[in-house]
Amino acid sequence: MEAVPECPECGGSGWKRVDLTDSQGVARCSCREQSRVQQLIEAARIPPRYQECLFENFDSLNPNLSKAKTMASCFVEEYPAVDFGLLILGTCGVGKTHLAVSIIRTLMLRYGTWCIFYDFRELLKQIQSSFNPVVGATEWQIIEPVLQCEVLLLDDLGAERPTDWVRDTFAYIINHRYNQKRTTLITSNFKDGESKRRKLSDGSTVVSEETLAERIGERMRSRLHEMCKVIRISANDYRVEIKQAQHEQ
Ligand SMILES: Nc1ncnc2c1ncn2[C@@H]1O[C@H](COP(=O)(O)OP(=O)(O)O)[C@@H](O)[C@H]1O
Ligand SMILES: [Mg+2]
Ligand SMILES: [Zn+2]
Repeated sequence: MEAVPECPECGGSGWKRVDLTDSQGVARCSCREQSRVQQLIEAARIPPRYQECLFENFDSLNPNLSKAKTMASCFVEEYPAVDFGLLILGTCGVGKTHLAVSIIRTLMLRYGTWCIFYDFRELLKQIQSSFNPVVGATEWQIIEPVLQCEVLLLDDLGAERPTDWVRDTFAYIINHRYNQKRTTLITSNFKDGESKRRKLSDGSTVVSEETLAERIGERMRSRLHEMCKVIRISANDYRVEIKQAQHEQ
């Protein structure tokens, strides 16, 4: 680890003297703790757009948002004594990613938890590109932290086309983390209930609104329910809401 030259407490060594009752000892300096947390946060892959997301700037514009926020912060309070993850569901722009990022950021700041953010499509893309020998990163280099980290945030599940490979990759990651009892947080725009079917004039039916089960398969859906508590957010798109509020002023 690099030296921290500016620290007046330890002179950059990372260790400082402490007085014990009958002798002197050394202890880790707090500057090292801070730089460890800073490194954790930098390595967590939180996209720049969500760098500032915190519980403190998550507005509870309606009772449902306030309930979602309470559930999310209870999760942090109870961590690591939780044996479940979170499945955060809701339509586009209601703050799912904001809330999920607030959780991992607080876990890193408060407990030094090893957390990783991955947009699910981005993860698939990186795994796919690792099959290309020119890229240099091996599949294992990408997948290992995803399997091993203490808390994985998989953002926007279901947005990609659900091919067999996508489903297998998802099942592999989720089953591995489930077996190792590691915590997984997932957000998705897809509805969790029954899919809506529309009758066509010839009597046949088509799916008019796809559900999570259709995107990831019924087996993985039930696995997610075993692993996760569900937070359902029902609110208006925050960005639209804010624009309207500004307009009305
Ligand atoms: N309740 C909220 N309070 C403050 N900002 C919010 C809230 N909900 C959403 N936002 C902001 O609106 C934008 C869209 O939210 P996002 O979390 O990306 O929505 P989703 O993941 O549900 O599509 C982000 O910039 C986010 O910080
Ligand atoms: Mg999102
Ligand atoms: Zn120091």
